[in-house]
This record gives sequence, structure tokens and C-alpha cells, in this order.
Amino acid sequence: MTVHFIGAGPGAPDLLTLRGRDRIAASPVCLYAGSLVPEALLDHCPAGARIVNTAPLSLDAILDEIAAAHAAGEDVARLHSGDLSIWSALGEQLRRLRALGIPFTVTPGVPAFAAAAATLEAELTLPGLAQSVVLTRTSGRASAMPRAETLPAFAATGATLAIHLSIHALDRVVAELTPAYGGDCPVAVVWRASWPDERIFRATLATIVAAAADGPERTALILVGPVLAAEDFAESSLYATGYDRRFRPQSATSPFAETSE
Ligand SMILES: C[S@@+](CC[C@H](N)C(=O)[O-])C[C@H]1O[C@@H](n2cnc3c(N)ncnc32)[C@H](O)[C@@H]1O
Repeated sequence: MTVHFIGAGPGAPDLLTLRGRDRIAASPVCLYAGSLVPEALLDHCPAGARIVNTAPLSLDAILDEIAAAHAAGEDVARLHSGDLSIWSALGEQLRRLRALGIPFTVTPGVPAFAAAAATLEAELTLPGLAQSVVLTRTSGRASAMPRAETLPAFAATGATLAIHLSIHALDRVVAELTPAYGGDCPVAVVWRASWPDERIFRATLATIVAAAADGPERTALILVGPVLAAEDFAESSLYATGYDRRFRPQSATSPFAETSE
């Protein structure tokens, strides 16, 4: 018996990995975080599967479900939205399973920030403008932020910010970022990226609060940084004609000329 943790992707049912789909199809029990995981993914469950929405359950109750499946020798597919590496409660569940000696696997998924960037048709790292993306959030009822992880501190780097779980505090986000980025810094709010009712609000730090005023209060990403409106950026060296590299050595004397990889 194994618990398969599976990143269920940002919302569109076809943004699930083939491995994730196959593990769902092979598991007679499916526990899914119903607040964000699309119900269409449950179509992959085998006939007669026990399917439980864990949104209203405590961690103890979820572990009870897993323990019951363990006793019955039944694999469990455990679905969380997006990818499991960020804000998925994976860590606490794995710690419990390790203590109980219950085996598990982890299958990655498409994170919401990548889906939002695809919706915007944007590369979040552009030469000379930003070479880092900060995946962050503001403090919420359930999770305080570590003291050094503040928006002004991240803003001071000039990196592209992907701010999760914070659309309800958009005005505070704007106030904390404006001193470093300036009011004309581009912002995009992507609500329910990849869902059929997806919405996009594009503006600047100075105008985004008004622009997104009629927007929903949940399930949106706030993306901030100069890359979002940049046209005037350098091309990367990687594909430049004269750039000497392993897969395209420019001369017989290139350090990469005899590399077979
Ligand atoms: C609990 S976190 C889950 C993040 C998820 N594990 C991931 O990899 O993206 C939920 C937050 O992710 C963002 N989010 C999740 N799905 C989204 C989507 N389809 N469109 C925009 N933002 C989304 C929102 O900021 C939301 O408040």
C-alpha cells in the first residue's frame, strides 16, 4: 500500500502529468483538496473508488482515512492543487507518514504561477531585467511570515514577484512594493489561471487597485515586475550566432568542440 501525493495542476484538467493521471487511475482511494482541485480529475479514479473531499477535514481526520486504506491494503491518490512543493501541506503529511511507516510517492504538478505566466504569455526572467522569481505570500490567519521575508525586502532585489494568497490584501501589497518598484511598475493579477472563467487584470502599481476593483477575492496571483511589460530587453547570449557553447561549438579550438554530450 502506498500514498501517492500528486500535484493536480492549476485548474484545467488536462494540465495534469501522465504519471499523476496513471496513479489516480490505479488507486482505489482518492483524497482531494476540494477547494482548488478540479472535480474533472476525479474522472480518472477507478470505478467504485472511495473519493473524499478533504477540504472540511482536519489533518487527524485525513490521517484516519489514510490509516484505514493502509489497513485495507489500498493505495491512496492524494491530490493537491498546483505543485506540491509550495503551500500544499505536504510537509506535515509526509512527517506523519514517515512516523507511521506508511510508504508514499510524490508526483509534481504544474504550479499556478507557471499557469499564470502562460496565460500572460510572459517569460518571468528576461536578460538584464530580472533573473529571479520570488514565490511568496503575505501573512494570513493560518500562517505568519518569517520576520525577514517581507515584500519590501523582496522588492529591494528588483526580482519578479509572484505573490500568492494575497489578493484580498492588494492595497497593502501595492503600498509595500511601490517605494522600491515605483508606481509605473507593471502588475498583472491573474484570477483562476487555466480555469474556463479565468480573468486577467493588467495595470501598474499605481493603478492596479482600481483596475482589479471588481475582481474576486480568492484564487488569484499577483505578478509584479518590469518583465511584465518589457519589449526593450537584450536577447539572451544562449542563442546568439557567435556564442560558443557545448551544443554549438564555434571552432575546433573551442573547449566544447570535442564534447559529445
Ligand atoms: C494554497 S496555495 C496553493 C499553491 C499551489 N500549490 C501551486 O503550486 O500553485 C493557493 C494560492 O495559489 C494561487 N493559485 C492557485 N491556483 C491558482 C490559479 N488557477 N490561478 C491563480 N492563482 C492560483 C492563489 O494565490 C491561491 O491563493
